[in-house]
Amino acid sequence: MQFIINGGRKLQGEIQLAGAKNAATKMMVASLLTEEPCVLENFPLIGDTQITAELCQALGSKVSLRGSVLEIHTPEIINHKVASLSRRNRIPILTLGPLLSRVGKAEVPILGGDKIGPRPVDLHLNALIKMGAKIEVSGESYIASVKDGLRGALIEMEFPSVGATENIILAAVLARGKTVIHNAATEPEVIELIKMLQKMGAIIELGANRLIEIEGVKKLRGVVHRILPDRNEAVSFGCLAVATNGSILVKEARQQDLITFLNALRKIGGEYEVTKEGIRFYRERSLTGLKIETDTHPGFMTDWQQPFVVLLTQSQGESVLHETIYEDRFGYTQDLNLVGAKIKLSSKCLGDLKCRFKVETYIHSAIVSGPTPLAGGNFQVKDLRSGIAHIIAALIANGQSTIQGVEEIDRGYERIDERLRELGADIRRI
Ligand code: EPU
Repeated sequence: MQFIINGGRKLQGEIQLAGAKNAATKMMVASLLTEEPCVLENFPLIGDTQITAELCQALGSKVSLRGSVLEIHTPEIINHKVASLSRRNRIPILTLGPLLSRVGKAEVPILGGDKIGPRPVDLHLNALIKMGAKIEVSGESYIASVKDGLRGALIEMEFPSVGATENIILAAVLARGKTVIHNAATEPEVIELIKMLQKMGAIIELGANRLIEIEGVKKLRGVVHRILPDRNEAVSFGCLAVATNGSILVKEARQQDLITFLNALRKIGGEYEVTKEGIRFYRERSLTGLKIETDTHPGFMTDWQQPFVVLLTQSQGESVLHETIYEDRFGYTQDLNLVGAKIKLSSKCLGDLKCRFKVETYIHSAIVSGPTPLAGGNFQVKDLRSGIAHIIAALIANGQSTIQGVEEIDRGYERIDERLRELGADIRRI
């Protein structure tokens, strides 16, 4: 599938955010922890939730959808093996905790690296081993088991990994005793998962300095929970409004989840107005460059750099972007250079933050010189967020662009083409 886009129009109007992809999928996994039904409201209809629904169904969940309300109910785990087809996203590894808690065994496919880096799961596995799990590698799977249930442990994480923090929490809520996580991730989606689990009966304390403490309980109950709005969609639409010199009210965008982005946007000449309904984004003046670094929450998120880099190609002067979360997340800049952008990549740490890639040769900094008009081009989507950068570039380009590999964008953005057409975009799916 591909998108054909004719650029050059200002996008204007209102757009409603969907529920957050990176919370919805984890909440579906959390529902596996109870025999009772769970209801997820504001459920996003995207590729990743579809894949996760198939995964849960194969384990024994009954899944039904009414509008944007999902009911997911797993009275019994009928299968402890997650099929290899679930390798299409990174959710299978998170099922280890619930499966070990409910049936004492689990088998999940080994996830390789992808187009943004090698993405190891050592932090996940080491924590579960400390909690009493035995984990073996067999062929293309991790085979895990536990005798007499998981037990609480002290986990010190070298890096505040989002997925590993979620995995430990999901494993700890039904474990015997207390689990303490030092250097835990505190992204809004992690906090929202904690809120859902607390409603289900879990006991989870949030301490200062990235400390999370979980006291295991014997049983969890069903829950009705509303999924928080997707802050990555909000950033994408905010960048789109400013890039096209339009004005978009992003309904339900939450200032509290976007503070670093809003500051960066204002510094380059974008503006926003926080209203009761959401945040309206527009351009205040001609754009100017900025030095910026991606970081864990509450820093500038790695998933925001791709749409933001497109804005920086339209900004006067030199901008520098230092990516400290993933070692290989600038692949899409080659495509932007082919249509007129001037982006140079570097393996140096072009920033001040402590960076795990300092001693490596990973290409993880970018220097963007602008402004550069963009022409239409033929883009191949590399990962979800690079896909949105391609869409924004195509929407501000002179002429027509083709974007191939749209399925990757559909994994995380609900009906993106239809919603953008409502804002005045000339975009067709074929
Ligand atoms: N890492 C390790 N060892 C581990 C786990 C992670 O070295 O055991 C490294 C990763 O390789 C990476 C860094 O730590 O370099 C960050 O990984 P993290 O575990 O924090 O990320 P994740 O849980 O795999 C989630 C989102 C990503 C988002 C990151 C950062 C989901 C499904 N994915 O990934 O979202 O970029 O957190 O906030 O929640 C996306 O939506 O397109 C996306 C990639």
